[in-house]
Amino acid sequence: MALVPKEAQVLVDALHDGVLTLTLNRPDKLNALDQSMIDALHAAMDYYASNPDVRVLVLTGAGNKAFAAGADIAQLRDRRAADALRAINAGLFDRVAAFPCPTIAAVRGFALGGGCELALACDLRICGMSAKFGQPETGLGILAAAGATWRLAALIGLGRARELLYTGRLVDAAEAHTIGLVNQVVSDDELSAAVAEMAGLIARNDSLATRLTKQALRLVQGPEDHYRQFVSAAQAVCFESPEKVRRMDAFLERKKRRA
Ligand code: COA
Repeated sequence: MALVPKEAQVLVDALHDGVLTLTLNRPDKLNALDQSMIDALHAAMDYYASNPDVRVLVLTGAGNKAFAAGADIAQLRDRRAADALRAINAGLFDRVAAFPCPTIAAVRGFALGGGCELALACDLRICGMSAKFGQPETGLGILAAAGATWRLAALIGLGRARELLYTGRLVDAAEAHTIGLVNQVVSDDELSAAVAEMAGLIARNDSLATRLTKQALRLVQGPEDHYRQFVSAAQAVCFESPEKVRRMDAFLERKKRRA
């Protein structure tokens, strides 16, 4: 049974053979993460983290254009230093990373900015050929403060992470696979089946052993708290800069002009 109604920002599918699927549901805005979606994801985490029947969590995006095209720029534009210090997105993504059982991001279309960081917070990423990953934050006058500076480097190496974070260029599915950003690439039509197959392989194993394996892997990763505090403080500085407002206004104005 669904936890939330159909029109909600996050859809929850019935638990199926130990696999729980959460769908970011704002397709008209390319599933951009706004505060109500963040709140809905927190609610789902609260509700399911203690459920021993959940063996795999799958995160995906509604529609075929995006997993998530980032944090909602209209909301981001007005965020200030105090908001950066609250680490709104990073706090959620840390909870996803800490979710007790393995998590899979099923990506079609854009996974940009916070959308890419959400996928990075998952244990595994499986994508369709339409997938495009990227961290365009510096182009908007901010930094990727919700995990990319540490999770992307851990996944694809510091050299490649530097390039993607400095340039903001997009990476297609084939390149994402080559550099180890995703575990598997399939056609968009096969994405659900591929995710179900991977989830099934995980779910048939012993739940306790799998959960402990996840925790063991987490202990060898992840920066210290003081590093994260630096990233939030750096974002707080960016959130007060006029250039951030100018660049985000330019994005929003372009959209308004086109409407
Ligand atoms: N925040 C808020 N709204 C967003 C968004 C975001 N991050 N990404 C997309 N949208 C909205 C668009 O404003 C548009 O809304 P509208 O129809 O009301 O104007 C809708 O989603 C569809 O996006 P659109 O830009 O028309 O699609 P496109 O195919 O032309 O371009 C992208 C797709 C992903 C290239 C483009 O939407 C984009 O650059 N988005 C921002 C990506 C980004 O910088 N993310 C990081 C934020 S930190």
